[in-house]
Amino acid sequence: MNTLIENNRAWASGIKRKDPQFFEKLARQQRPEYLWIGCADSRVPANQIVGLLPGELFVHRNVANLVVHTDLNCLSAIQYAVDVLKVKHIIVCGHYGCGGVATAISERPSGLIDNWLLHVKDMYYRNQSAFVDCADDSERINRLCEMNVIEQVNNVCHTSILQAAWQRGQDLQVHGWIYSIADGLLKDLDVTFNAPEQVPEVYR
Ligand code: CO
Repeated sequence: MNTLIENNRAWASGIKRKDPQFFEKLARQQRPEYLWIGCADSRVPANQIVGLLPGELFVHRNVANLVVHTDLNCLSAIQYAVDVLKVKHIIVCGHYGCGGVATAISERPSGLIDNWLLHVKDMYYRNQSAFVDCADDSERINRLCEMNVIEQVNNVCHTSILQAAWQRGQDLQVHGWIYSIADGLLKDLDVTFNAPEQVPEVYR
């Protein structure tokens, strides 16, 4: 544990060397333009991937980057980011080879988490025909990882929070990205939403 504390001292002094007022300014307020909704996977560290400093990215992470309609934790993060921080962009970022997504379609029980991952399994079951040409499990998982990002982007857009923000004319975009652990690169899945008209009428 001491290594971590030592790392922290070195990190803080490194930042202060470049900008002596950095932490004082940050302590007064945060003004991030982005909300990141990502997987809890240790290989997908939000700030580092997009090269942003403390104060620049508001982050919510959970297993398999899910936005569940009744998850108060995720909804609260979205609401605070949109209504109070007035972020301009919400990024739902999944990643290939996601252990949560793999677990969702594995036949091996993993305990409590299987219930959380039922959201992914339900989606897989509803869209089985989209996977018939998959050559193997890894292709199936990666396709489901992409589908999962798109589903969660939709879930964000369907919340009362986003609908209300757009109705009052707030400038707010929702993006779906996927990260490749194998090469460190992000891919935009081109599912950007910036207006309530983009979601089916029943959700408006
Ligand atoms: Co994951």
